[in-house]
Amino acid sequence: MIELVDATVTAYGPPDGRGRASVVTLLHPTTCTLGERRIAVVGANGSGKSTLARLLNGLVRPSAGTVTVDGLDTVRDGAQVRRRVGFCFTDPDAQLVLPTPLEDVALSLRRLDLAPADRTRRAREILARFGLADRAEVPVHALSGGQKQLLALAGVLATEPTVLVCDEPTTLLDLRWKRVVDQLLDGLDQQVVQVTHDLDAAARADRVLVVDDGRVVHDGDPRTGVERYVSLMTSGSGR
Ligand SMILES: Nc1ncnc2c1ncn2[C@@H]1O[C@H](COP(=O)(O)OP(=O)(O)OP(=O)(O)O)[C@@H](O)[C@H]1O
Ligand SMILES: [Mg+2]
Repeated sequence: MIELVDATVTAYGPPDGRGRASVVTLLHPTTCTLGERRIAVVGANGSGKSTLARLLNGLVRPSAGTVTVDGLDTVRDGAQVRRRVGFCFTDPDAQLVLPTPLEDVALSLRRLDLAPADRTRRAREILARFGLADRAEVPVHALSGGQKQLLALAGVLATEPTVLVCDEPTTLLDLRWKRVVDQLLDGLDQQVVQVTHDLDAAARADRVLVVDDGRVVHDGDPRTGVERYVSLMTSGSGR
């Protein structure tokens, strides 16, 4: 269970006329308890979706208020929270650290107490599940954008998190692989919080949060949430 209590994110903005740093609010005080299995976060570019998503595993710290996961505080108990909450970035380059897909997924498996040969076998199985069996030893930088995104997702799921937070997991994928990832995410046992511009994916969620200008302006029913988002986009009030 994820709980936000008055969680607020501020950052330094451009200096004011007197050269003093200004403070901008990226997320206004937000209170909610996220227990549903499938939660979608939608909103305009720059509205604060990634900021909200990153709060959930401590990648962004609240400037005020608290964020807890199963009672663990994302600031005080950051390492434990990150073991529970896997995070998949929009830009896979942000999380692919080793030269080849095989090494990258094997690194994710390090917490499981496996012999090296078993770890490699398991990593190959995971890569195959994501259609990357024949890319296992290709340099990561040579993968296509979509292949990198699949690899990033494979690496995060290999850590067996109890919650998966994905920031636009299908943005770079072609229709075939988007369907594969959609079905995979839909079928996971874990709780999934997905930031998305895909309104069909949002409509399939149990709960939708709509973010506008750093505020959660809708929290609840997916159909109403999608309608609210569409109306924000068409009224021109979204950023
Ligand atoms: N560390 C920071 N310092 C200053 N401004 C920031 C910082 N991080 C994010 N912002 C700003 O906060 C706003 C919200 O950013 P965020 O990445 O959460 O938006 P988003 O809804 O995920 O957008 P997109 O759909 O484009 O990914 C943006 O205007 C962004 O430039
Ligand atoms: Mg974003």
